[in-house]
Amino acid sequence: MRITVHSAKCQGHARCWAQAPDIFNLNDEGYILPGAIDVEERDELLASRGARSCPERALEIDCA
Ligand code: F3S
Repeated sequence: MRITVHSAKCQGHARCWAQAPDIFNLNDEGYILPGAIDVEERDELLASRGARSCPERALEIDCA
């Protein structure tokens, strides 16, 4: 699974990080780092919870 990060939409809510701090990396100001995140199969549940928790819809789950 891959998560596309739309960092321009991030408002620093950090809900993604609260769910999965090892998957979602924030900068010093608390905003998500740009770029795609490749998620290991064992981490998919946690990662999808984190992505869905973002109120700005900044984290898009790609299942392909
Ligand atoms: Fe940003 Fe959403 Fe996470 S606003 S810090 S991507 S919960």
